[in-house]
Amino acid sequence: MPETSWVFAIEENKLQDNFASMVFPKGLPVLLIKKAGEIYAISNKCAHMACALAGGTLKDYIIRCPCHDWRFDIRTGEFLDAAEIKLKVYEWKSSEGKIFIKIGE
Ligand code: FES
Repeated sequence: MPETSWVFAIEENKLQDNFASMVFPKGLPVLLIKKAGEIYAISNKCAHMACALAGGTLKDYIIRCPCHDWRFDIRTGEFLDAAEIKLKVYEWKSSEGKIFIKIGE
């Protein structure tokens, strides 16, 4: 069973509302999105051909991949056209103004 750990990602005050921030806890490409006071953490690699979703567009809770327009719900990671295809969604926590991502599951 892989070991899990909480890895520092970014200072919480660097996250802006409606904006996706790329972070690389332990080298993993993760996208943190702050929306209406909540934070969502998803893989920054599209489930189609691994383009970086950070270059995509965010509308409401939907991020659109810049490469071939696949759309994903940032709350669940689900691909809108086929919910069985998902981006990895990461658990996160805030401690003393810092965001940590749970890695290793
Ligand atoms: S790589 Fe994202 S839609 Fe193709």
